Amino acid sequence: MNLGATHAAPLLTRLRAHPQGWISGQSLCADLHCSRNAIWKQVEVLRRFGYTIEARPRLGYCLTGAPEAPIPGEVESRLTTRVLGRELAWLPSVDSTNRWLAEKADHGAREGLVVTADTQTAGRGRLDRLWHSPPALNLYLSILLRPAVPLDRAASLSLLLGLALRRAIRALAPELDPRLKWPNDIWIQGRKVCGILCDMRAEPDRIHHVVAGIGLNVNTTAGDFPEKLRPTATSLRLAAGRSFLRAGVLATLLNELEPAYQEWSAHGLAPFLDELNKADLLKGRLVTLTQGTHLLASRANGIAPDGALLLQTPAGITSVYSGDVSIRSISGLRN
Ligand code: BTN
Repeated sequence: MNLGATHAAPLLTRLRAHPQGWISGQSLCADLHCSRNAIWKQVEVLRRFGYTIEARPRLGYCLTGAPEAPIPGEVESRLTTRVLGRELAWLPSVDSTNRWLAEKADHGAREGLVVTADTQTAGRGRLDRLWHSPPALNLYLSILLRPAVPLDRAASLSLLLGLALRRAIRALAPELDPRLKWPNDIWIQGRKVCGILCDMRAEPDRIHHVVAGIGLNVNTTAGDFPEKLRPTATSLRLAAGRSFLRAGVLATLLNELEPAYQEWSAHGLAPFLDELNKADLLKGRLVTLTQGTHLLASRANGIAPDGALLLQTPAGITSVYSGDVSIRSISGLRN
């Protein structure tokens, strides 16, 4: 259920205006034009959403805690966007947020719809891998975009998303230096913290929609990762040494993404090239590119304005548009 759709939303707004302070039942009744009984019922609704509200005779009500989960009420109150996240769905559990949102997109959902799940039972990663999605720790979200851009620009969208994520992480934890690993990973301190998976539906001359899926490890501790991921995965909490409020992380991401997406829609990646090349984890490193059964060892030489990875080969610089890249020497990779 969406909190915004209940009568409890105006009560929450009043309680938020008095953080840690008391507000009398009488003034709430007068302000919200309802009975004390109705106020009590809405307090119960808010408690079911995870808010902690104290109630005392003669003092009234006091908001003492908000839910940690990125439920719509908590995200919306932090948004500065016009479109992204203004429609927000929160699911306790789903197979895959990308699958869920693609279905909504096919039925005409509007650009900007965002879905977040507390856990995914079949979260999808690139190359048919599973995305580890334990409950109550991280962000698993998908954003519906309907970019009015030429089809060949779509490939660079995941780099743009990566940049917006990098900006958001730096706004929340300026001591971190997140790097982009082409085409759609974010690494911190030599480990992967985030993966991006864009699913597109298009015709040769028109993009119907892009479902931009993001899995960001927020509060995972080392013990929460399966053993085989431990050497290569990290979270914001592990990297920064403190935990993060998921609602705040999601809102910061959407606030960073909206203006960047508008600029990308108008001008492509060109305005972001400097930032992109500074954030490029692979630049100058020896890498192995895997495309199906074909392996190519070479040195990465930056990112092109069309989003291609540039590789230095004996025959010269080659542009690469797809494939999996691994870094040949991981030692000393602390960015
Ligand atoms: C990768 O392989 O690195 C991409 C991982 C993308 C995972 C996210 S989690 C939310 C969204 N829903 C999915 O099923 N996958 C993406």
